[in-house]
Amino acid sequence: MTEPLIIGIESSCDETGVAFVRGNTLLGDVVASSVEQHARFGGVVPEVASRAHLEELIPTIRRACEESGHRLADVDAVAVTSGPGLAGALMVGVASAKALAWALDKPLYGVNHLAAHVCADVLDHGPLPEPTVALLVSGGHTNLLLVRDIASDVVELGSTIDDAAGEAFDKVARVLGLPYPGGPHIERAAAEGDATAIRFPRGLTSRKDLERHRFDFSFSGLKTAVVRWVQERERAGEPVPVADVAASFTEAVADVLTRKAIDACREYGVGDLQIGGGVTANARLRALAQERCDAAGVSLRVPRVRLCTDNGAMVAALGSQLVQRGLAPSSLDLPADSSMPV
Ligand code: KG4
Ligand code: ZN
Repeated sequence: MTEPLIIGIESSCDETGVAFVRGNTLLGDVVASSVEQHARFGGVVPEVASRAHLEELIPTIRRACEESGHRLADVDAVAVTSGPGLAGALMVGVASAKALAWALDKPLYGVNHLAAHVCADVLDHGPLPEPTVALLVSGGHTNLLLVRDIASDVVELGSTIDDAAGEAFDKVARVLGLPYPGGPHIERAAAEGDATAIRFPRGLTSRKDLERHRFDFSFSGLKTAVVRWVQERERAGEPVPVADVAASFTEAVADVLTRKAIDACREYGVGDLQIGGGVTANARLRALAQERCDAAGVSLRVPRVRLCTDNGAMVAALGSQLVQRGLAPSSLDLPADSSMPV
């Protein structure tokens, strides 16, 4: 018997994503991004994001149908991100998914955005090893998760207590005069720089901080340290070595992320680490994660970059897991929950 065909809808931030998944196989995956509309504001503007979802969702569904070679009538279940995320943005996806499920008379599955990020990897590497430790690093999230069962038992070990890692990249880019979103620009600048040139602080790694925040992250102090360092240079009338600052900043972020992720694997006796989220595009983060996993005997799984950023594929992949594992669908009064815990 063929496995059920799942449509996944993502609209929690600035990406409108729609994809089809059967089992662990991705059949079509279309993303429309409003990132350019947010660029001049230096960050995502919720109202602008909601309007863009409203305009883009139906055309994106159409394109995903074309790409997958399926019609909506073929769908066996509808999965949608119901939280966490921007309230207005989530509502567009949730309302559309409900309408679709009702019209097709198929079950609706509201899924958690963070768990969906973790699940994206099954589309590249097959069934997720459980338990696994998952590090999620994006513009909106920085979480360390212990995944015992992706459908029903995901525990948050820690998260950022201030800025998300991607947000730190975006803020530091602005200080260095680089465009939004800053991550790719910082990465390009860092390629010419010396990562050991400046020793920027590693947040929440002192012995005292580790007592309360063992698996939490903090990037606002790092951002402030970069701002101060750059301003002192400018005040002294000296040129700012952008490449060295970018490389040293990246090193500080990658160091603390990978260190805590490996510590979590050790503490919970888990042999698998999975990383995802837009910041995972960063080659230095990937390389350091690989290096430290090899040293610790941990096996690392990283999906291709397209699956690391927000998309409908990860939502459909998690929906597919929920169906395969026999979980009950959501009711048609499913709310959008902007602060949904994992
Ligand atoms: O997952 P994502 O596409 O969107 C959400 O935030 O949900 O992540 C976007 C974030 C932005 O903050 C961006 O600056 C960062 O990921 N990013 C990177 C790189 N590419 C994107 N950060 C570091 N290095 C990169 N190459
Ligand atoms: Zn995301």
